[in-house]
Amino acid sequence: MQRILVTGGAGFIGCNFIHYIMEHTGLHVTALDKLTYAGNIESLAGLPPERFEFVQGDICDAPLVDRMTAGVDAVVHFAAESHNDNSLQDPRPFVDTNLVGTFTLIEAARKHSTRFHHISTDEVYGDLALEDPQRFTESSVYRPTSPYSATKAGSDMLVRAWVRSFGLQATISNCSNNYGPYQHVEKFIPRQITNILDGNRPRLYGNGHNVRDWIHVEDHSSAVAAILERGRIGETYLIGADGEQSNRVVVEKLLRQMGQSPEAYDLVTDRPGHDLRYAIDSSKLRKELGWVPRFADFDAGLADTVRWYQDNEAWWRPQKAATETKYAGQGH
Ligand code: NAD
Ligand code: DAU
Repeated sequence: MQRILVTGGAGFIGCNFIHYIMEHTGLHVTALDKLTYAGNIESLAGLPPERFEFVQGDICDAPLVDRMTAGVDAVVHFAAESHNDNSLQDPRPFVDTNLVGTFTLIEAARKHSTRFHHISTDEVYGDLALEDPQRFTESSVYRPTSPYSATKAGSDMLVRAWVRSFGLQATISNCSNNYGPYQHVEKFIPRQITNILDGNRPRLYGNGHNVRDWIHVEDHSSAVAAILERGRIGETYLIGADGEQSNRVVVEKLLRQMGQSPEAYDLVTDRPGHDLRYAIDSSKLRKELGWVPRFADFDAGLADTVRWYQDNEAWWRPQKAATETKYAGQGH
């Protein structure tokens, strides 16, 4: 493998993956990204031009996708509409990008016999009770609950069908909640960090008892690299780092780390249909591919992330006011 195409490369996880894969391999990377509100070209600054190219375009643009897929050995597909709250306001772009966009890409990959890795989410499995001893595994039943997770589930099904019906050389990964540098300020952890930096109180939906299974974005990147290199075609791998935390505990940790009282947050209107808990069992990935997460200490990873937002205000500041105006309109 010499050349790869990364869709959604200007987004949070896509850009972190590109930095990771360029540092750890000699691959040539082309990023294809529409630069929606969620994409930021600044996240790709400083990459060596002899090994990196950026193309602004839509994954639903079939002629463009066909041309770009023809020239590479593998496609790693991150591009998506990714935010649950937005999917509840306007589901249409989620159907277009997550379903039609994925369809467009796998048609091109089928035509050119290109290796394909599809990035998906643990949300396709719905949610768990707080006390449920089971975690999600590769054989959990699909039960998506939001327009976002429903379109991601549909995209997974398309990839699985293309493997079975057309022999597409594809793998799928479903990962838990990522945190780390370059995440848009609409998402939970960056929203609260930047609120605190601005002298505003963090906002917790509902009672704050919902649980997410946090993984540092660099560990997601190393897992995807392992699957791309050694994953078995047709297989799904769940990616997680045993990082379950309630939202309330995460906000309290952030407030303490940033020198505030751990009670200095507000409870706001809950998200409609809010999934209660996600939890990943990543045994298959660990046993089969020997993957281990590097960021075992959540508090230390969180402190690094706080520092990154403190040091990179120029990156996030342009999005902050518009994001908070949008949330105010939703009662959040
Ligand atoms: P993001 O919203 O930060 O980035 C998405 C990127 O896709 C943006 O750069 C955007 O411009 C681009 N994009 C959107 N529509 C496009 C289109 N039609 N054509 C081309 N580019 C388009 O998302 P993220 O958090 O980096 O998520 C990346 C992937 O990982 C998604 O598939 C998401 O479902 C999955 N995922 C995310 C998480 C998480 O915690 N953020 C966890 C598991 C899986
Ligand atoms: O599980 C993987 C998923 O994680 C990915 O597929 C999604 O792309 C990604 O956005 C994320 O989805 P969540 O809905 O879990 O992430 P979000 O950052 O929006 O919210 C995390 C939790 O925090 C969730 O329980 C809602 C809550 N929340 C969120 C915001 C923005 C708050 O309490 N307050 C907030 O201000």
